Amino acid sequence: MILRTFFFFLSLFFLGNAEPVEDKQALLDFANGLRHSRYLNWSEDTPVCNHWTGVTCSADKSRIVAVRLPGVGFHGPIPPNTLGRLSDLQILSLRSNGISGGFPADFANLKNLSYLYLQFNNFSGPLPQDFSIWENLTIINLSNNAFNGSIPSSLSNLTQLGGLNLANNSLSGEIPDLKLPHLQLINLSNNNLNGSIPESLQRFPDSVFAGNNISFQNFTSSLSPSLSPASGTHSRSKNGRLNETALLGIIVAACILGLAGVAFLILICCSRKKHKDGFSGKLQKAKMSPEKEISRSEEANNRLVFFEGCNYAFDLEDLLRASAEVLGKGTFGISYKAILEDATTVVVKRLREVGAGKRDFEQQMEIVGNIRHENVVELKAYYYSKDEKLMVYEYYSQGSVSALLHGNRGEDRVPLDWDSRMRIAIGAARGIARIHLENSGKLVHGNIKSSNIFLNSQSYGSVSDLGLASVMSSLAPPISRAAGYRAPEVTDTRKAGQPSDVFSFGVVMLELLTGKSPVYATNGDEMVHLVRWVHSVVREEWTAEVFDVELMRYPNIEEELVEMLQIAMSCVVRMPDQRPKMQEVVKMIENVRSVESDNSRPFSGNKSPVVRSEPSV
Ligand SMILES: *[C@@H]1O[C@H](CO)[C@@H](O)[C@H](O)[C@H]1NC(C)=O
Ligand SMILES: *[C@@H]1O[C@H](CO)[C@@H](O)[C@H](O)[C@H]1NC(C)=O
Ligand SMILES: *[C@@H]1O[C@H](CO)[C@@H](O)[C@H](O)[C@H]1NC(C)=O
Ligand SMILES: *[C@@H]1O[C@H](CO)[C@@H](O)[C@H](O)[C@H]1NC(C)=O
Ligand SMILES: *[C@@H]1O[C@H](CO)[C@@H](O)[C@H](O)[C@H]1NC(C)=O
Ligand SMILES: *[C@@H]1O[C@H](CO)[C@@H](O)[C@H](O)[C@H]1NC(C)=O
Ligand SMILES: *[C@@H]1O[C@H](CO)[C@@H](O)[C@H](O)[C@H]1NC(C)=O
Ligand SMILES: *[C@@H]1O[C@H](CO)[C@@H](O)[C@H](O)[C@H]1NC(C)=O
Ligand SMILES: *[C@@H]1O[C@H](CO)[C@@H](O)[C@H](O)[C@H]1NC(C)=O
Ligand SMILES: *[C@@H]1O[C@H](CO)[C@@H](O)[C@H](O)[C@H]1NC(C)=O
Ligand SMILES: *[C@@H]1O[C@H](CO)[C@@H](O)[C@H](O)[C@H]1NC(C)=O
Ligand SMILES: *[C@@H]1O[C@H](CO)[C@@H](O)[C@H](O)[C@H]1NC(C)=O
Repeated sequence: MILRTFFFFLSLFFLGNAEPVEDKQALLDFANGLRHSRYLNWSEDTPVCNHWTGVTCSADKSRIVAVRLPGVGFHGPIPPNTLGRLSDLQILSLRSNGISGGFPADFANLKNLSYLYLQFNNFSGPLPQDFSIWENLTIINLSNNAFNGSIPSSLSNLTQLGGLNLANNSLSGEIPDLKLPHLQLINLSNNNLNGSIPESLQRFPDSVFAGNNISFQNFTSSLSPSLSPASGTHSRSKNGRLNETALLGIIVAACILGLAGVAFLILICCSRKKHKDGFSGKLQKAKMSPEKEISRSEEANNRLVFFEGCNYAFDLEDLLRASAEVLGKGTFGISYKAILEDATTVVVKRLREVGAGKRDFEQQMEIVGNIRHENVVELKAYYYSKDEKLMVYEYYSQGSVSALLHGNRGEDRVPLDWDSRMRIAIGAARGIARIHLENSGKLVHGNIKSSNIFLNSQSYGSVSDLGLASVMSSLAPPISRAAGYRAPEVTDTRKAGQPSDVFSFGVVMLELLTGKSPVYATNGDEMVHLVRWVHSVVREEWTAEVFDVELMRYPNIEEELVEMLQIAMSCVVRMPDQRPKMQEVVKMIENVRSVESDNSRPFSGNKSPVVRSEPSV
């Protein structure tokens, strides 16, 4: 009887531990056929699921879905007909081994492969010609091998592809035009590629093509003072390859193109709160000049248009003499820091792929430029001509919230403390709520992300880059960098609504809480979406593990952390109409800590929170 019971339980035990027998054998054949210098605890007698290093089974334990064996010391070619039998495999990582031989032909059976990491091996020979058989491939990292031959154009069939690293191989020929909307990371550096960079890849930085014989378009040389309108147009088609020193040239060119016939355009900086100092002379000069009638309502084409209330008094000549430095390449264009001779610093952003016509563009700028709020980065001026669109913004010296959070995670990092993060969140929320009041309550920011949030003089968040999405071409590349912030319902970036701003803001809050980027790679090299990750962790009630370890040093903030997390989660719900309005988000955050409506004072007091919302001028 006892024995019967024992066998009963024994059989239950084995049934409960059903395992993928054929997949297990395939792995054993693989390990037996490939020399490895480190011990693998793969024993025939132990169940493969949960007990074999680096092996992951499907939930029902019927198949093996992931094999991760980095740095096991494999040496030699992959034995044929081994890994190729794991036909449900989704993740394969064999990085940092000494595997040689060609790309295994039988990987063609791994139809569901999504993540492939073979970097830092000694693979050689050509890449597979037909990549379209792996329709779900998301990340391909074949870098640091000895692959040769050309880059197959069939890669452009991989609609899911988000990362492609082929750096440090011996690939040759020209780079195919890879029209991959989800591609976020690419690196083709250090190969023998030639020709030019296809248009679809021009949105990526030069460094990803370095170490090849690729002709980079040379902006500086194409912008000579004798530039004709025709050649100017020509040079513009190769934008995105602009270097630091080119800004000057661009503005000169824009000036010559746009203001033909006008010798000097004197900018009138309209100043309601006029400065009594040295600016007045310039202002007077402007008033006496025949150009004084220039205003943004004027029909005349192509001039730098300043907004009322801006307290700068520089003219185009000053701007031309400014020294410029690249701040960054963003979703909509390249930003420069321009320092004028009088030490005024502004941000000049050069837009690419503006979809709207002049009139629509001007209307939108009119709306955006008139917003004056301490939590909205001020648009000082803009310039629109057929060939060039420039935006002039206020400059903040502390850098973006993205840089503060994710930059310099090394030893000398200054952690961003919890109070600062609260101030960033409440400031940004107020700024966005203010934006949502504009244009009869219809204005959408359209590009909320931590790299578009800066610290104002009181160290509260201040949002920048608003209202551009609707005038740019849809899915303006690189849509990628914005991808982690984009609400699921947004298919056309031009038509995003206010609820999608709320979603993006929720992602920024999650960033502040977790210290993680909206899309990041784990140690196992998988790409993780922050929203999904937080959902998965919170669902399993590991709430504490969600938060940034840097925050753990501050006492008595747990409640605030959890409340902020709840607000963030309510912003990132899937259904747009279930998300709170931005005004409500502001109130909720203010309730977390009784925050006064005036940014200039620290958190304290119990005044009922009010969002400042001056009507526009
Ligand atoms: C093999 O090693 C992993 C950890 O690397 C461990 O979790 C597993 O239990 C081990 N399996 C056996 C059979 O020892
Ligand atoms: C690709 O992934 C989708 C969804 O995850 C799945 O339905 C489909 O079967 C996969 N394709 C292949 C070839 O396995
Ligand atoms: C392929 O993988 C996805 C998950 O990435 C899974 O949902 C799907 O069922 C798999 N399809 C097949 C045919 O195995
Ligand atoms: C890589 O493979 C080549 C032959 O294809 C061999 O000569 C070389 O020694 C290998 N390098 C390493 C580091 O194993
Ligand atoms: C690739 O390398 C192999 C030797 O490893 C050589 O036989 C072959 O010709 C090379 N192919 C190309 C296209 O260079
Ligand atoms: C994409 O796949 C289709 C069919 O699978 C094939 O006909 C086509 O040639 C592929 N495209 C490229 C660029 O290889
Ligand atoms: C590929 O591998 C390299 C080297 O390990 C790494 O730096 C890179 O981030 C990886 N790329 C992708 C897209 O995962
Ligand atoms: C390529 O190799 C160089 C030198 O070995 C290394 O510094 C670089 O990080 C490698 N590139 C990638 C993308 O792995
Ligand atoms: C690129 O190199 C290949 C040989 O690898 C050659 O046939 C082709 O003409 C080159 N193309 C250009 C634009 O130099
Ligand atoms: C690409 O790889 C090169 C080295 O091979 C590196 O210098 C460069 O920064 C990488 N670019 C990106 C965007 O990862
Ligand atoms: C680079 O390509 C140009 C043509 O595009 C060719 O004239 C030159 O010889 C190539 N240089 C090397 C080192 O292959
Ligand atoms: C680009 O222009 C600079 C200066 O005009 C020159 O030094 C450089 O050689 C040029 N580069 C190419 C690739 O033409």
